[in-house]
Amino acid sequence: ETTKSGLRKDFLWGGAVAANQLEGAWDVDGKGVSVSDIMTAGAYQKPREITDGIIAGKNYPNHEAIDFYHHYKDDIKMFAEMGFKCFRTSIAWTRIFPNGDETEPNEAGLKFYDDMFDECLKYGIEPVITLSHFEMPYHLVTEYGGWRNRKVIDFFVKFATVCFKRYKDKVKYWMTFNEINNQTTFTNDFSIATDSGLIFRNKESEAEREALMYQASHYEVVASALAVKIGHKINPDFEIGNMVNFTPVYPASSDPKDILLAEKAMQRRYWWADVQALGEYPVGMEAYFKNHDLRPDITAEDRVVLREGTVDYVGFSYYNSMTVKYSDDNPEFKFVGDREAVKNPNLKYNDWGWPVDPVGLRYSMNWLTEHYHKPVMIVENGFGAYDKVESDGSIHDDYRVDYLRAHVKQMITAVNEDGVDLMGYTPWGCIDLVSAGTGQMSKRYGFIYVDKDDEGNGTLERSKKDSFYWYQKVIRSNGLDL
Ligand code: BG6
Repeated sequence: ETTKSGLRKDFLWGGAVAANQLEGAWDVDGKGVSVSDIMTAGAYQKPREITDGIIAGKNYPNHEAIDFYHHYKDDIKMFAEMGFKCFRTSIAWTRIFPNGDETEPNEAGLKFYDDMFDECLKYGIEPVITLSHFEMPYHLVTEYGGWRNRKVIDFFVKFATVCFKRYKDKVKYWMTFNEINNQTTFTNDFSIATDSGLIFRNKESEAEREALMYQASHYEVVASALAVKIGHKINPDFEIGNMVNFTPVYPASSDPKDILLAEKAMQRRYWWADVQALGEYPVGMEAYFKNHDLRPDITAEDRVVLREGTVDYVGFSYYNSMTVKYSDDNPEFKFVGDREAVKNPNLKYNDWGWPVDPVGLRYSMNWLTEHYHKPVMIVENGFGAYDKVESDGSIHDDYRVDYLRAHVKQMITAVNEDGVDLMGYTPWGCIDLVSAGTGQMSKRYGFIYVDKDDEGNGTLERSKKDSFYWYQKVIRSNGLDL
């Protein structure tokens, strides 16, 4: 059933966050150390350092984050005031299995999410839950090598099963792995550590990194499919999705070499979604693996599991697009650094060099719908920006409203003109939190401001930005009043 704007009547308006970026309380109530707990604060063009365990004296912004762990009641109340129908967050794996390989889960961790979900449901807010969002137990990295090890499948499946059983009457919408395809850029330490727990300290070559990334990714898609199968058995009403970072790749020109390169780049970036949504590897990637001896460990049984564990919907994040230019150095197109990426002269860029491309969202919704024939959900979208607090405490973030308005317009057009079946929209960082990429607080996305700076100073007090009232009105009108 749809409404005047064309959106479903039960459209899931909400906001998105991830446990590691807002909860804080990193060592409270038995929680173990996760991969995000060993990342220091970086800045624009200054990568976060991934330390070997926790080193005294370093600034680890996720340790306290915005202390949602102790503020969640007030924060959820503010989400309810905005009119949220859903709230996307993740379950920190290390609260449930502190080391990842225990036989019994940690009851205090399970209880936290029980209470937090109850608080959401009290206001009619549906939790939308990602099982793994950049926070695998660090112990699984040091003892097992992260996802390069097939054993990790069992640990993940156990974690997923415990969560599905415990929250089966509280959570209906799930996702397995957040932005599983970030690791396409396998030369980027951050992406491959957060996706797969692959941490390189011995100057491994590009080829070694690439090989490990593909093998690890295979184990992840198998784990994801197993989780989908088990979840559906535990509660047939569950809707379980995958989650890819969707950044459409455009050719820099009409030169056929650029066009083919962009097509290859799309294949390299989105095959995870093919496997998760369609149940098998696309032929282009199979050919690539065969020609380069990649992903050696795949069994006939794995292939059956992949076919049986396809997702119910495709979740994706959308921030921007990228544009590539052919170069003789990289004819096959590997995502090694930003070698092929060029600036798109048609787009404006934010302070972190991200282009702003609302039409790209409509393009993405079309692409995903045409490829997978499933409902889609925009589970992240947003504008990282510096905010200025006026002397009276107000924050006039019209740049954020402009960005979101332009994207929501394209989103509604895709539903009405292109027939996309869209389940919901959860803009990223609905409350200010720690940036994943840079570890900064000052790269803000929220409708709700949190008083804290990049050094960790501040009262943690929450206040409403102008965008808070804008979004409230959008939800109230189900997208008619933008
Ligand atoms: C996505 C992630 O990459 O984008 C989030 O799923 C992340 O965890 C968000 O925070 C925005 O990126 P950043 O680097 O600005 O925090």
